[in-house]
Amino acid sequence: MIARISILMIALTVQTAFAQTAPAANKPDLARAKQTAETLCAACHGPDGNGIAATFPKLAGQHEAYLLKQLHDLKATGNKPAARVNATMAPMVAPLSDEDMRGLAAYFSQLKQKPDIAKNRSTVELGQRIWRAGDKTKGLPACAGCHGPNGLGIPTTYPKLQGQYADYVEAQLKTFRTGERANDASSQMRIVASRLSDAEIKAVADYAAGLR
Ligand code: HEC
Ligand code: HEC
Repeated sequence: MIARISILMIALTVQTAFAQTAPAANKPDLARAKQTAETLCAACHGPDGNGIAATFPKLAGQHEAYLLKQLHDLKATGNKPAARVNATMAPMVAPLSDEDMRGLAAYFSQLKQKPDIAKNRSTVELGQRIWRAGDKTKGLPACAGCHGPNGLGIPTTYPKLQGQYADYVEAQLKTFRTGERANDASSQMRIVASRLSDAEIKAVADYAAGLR
């Protein structure tokens, strides 16, 4: 009887301890993420997550789930190559644990984006047409269908493009087109990009940068 009670009590103690620590362990460690962001990521993505140059994507205000997916995709694990191959980001994510990634995704998603602007007046019309309607003659869907009319994206799958650097967006569309970036589920972006010309890519990237 005494033995049964003490086993019960141990079980209860363990359960209570678990109930107390479980929520804390589930919350991303934002303080630790801030430190990593400011000491490591800031060199390229800027101290405020807005990217120090147009080749470094703005992470500020991007959807948390999208950022988390990218961090996982950028990291090679064991014998498995990274789903998104990038020589610059590979050494950055290599030392990050799953917990670190959760923290960083949550941290950057909470920062405020400083939006880029559209710079090319002569291509706004083309960019807008592709964004809003696509091109039925070549089976090109509207970007708005997945990334939203204002480019805010649709969590958790579709990233925000509003205000992102045009140069970065252009570069991504080109790597999707060649298949160098191939971490898009069901090839959604590779199919879209394969139907875009260089001129259309430039126009729609500039348009997305100016979306509000
Ligand atoms: C030396 C420069 C550099 C540093 C430092 C760096 N990054 Fe990056 N990061 C890049 C570049 C360049 C890209 C774009 C890669 C590409 O073209 O596919 C990128 C892309 C990303 C992306 C994908 C964004 C998107 O919109 O798809 C995430 C997320 C990211 N970085 C997070 C981080 C985090 C977190 C850190 C710090 C731990 C970090 N980066 C440090 C250069 C850097
Ligand atoms: C059928 C849905 C769909 C359509 C239509 C679509 N996209 Fe995407 N797009 C996605 C998905 C899903 C991702 C995220 C891929 C991943 O998980 O890495 C994405 C990612 C992107 C990225 C990478 C963002 C980053 O931060 O690295 C760019 C740039 C992009 N899309 C541009 C466009 C443009 C421009 C159009 C219109 C010509 C468009 N997309 C149309 C589904 C779509």
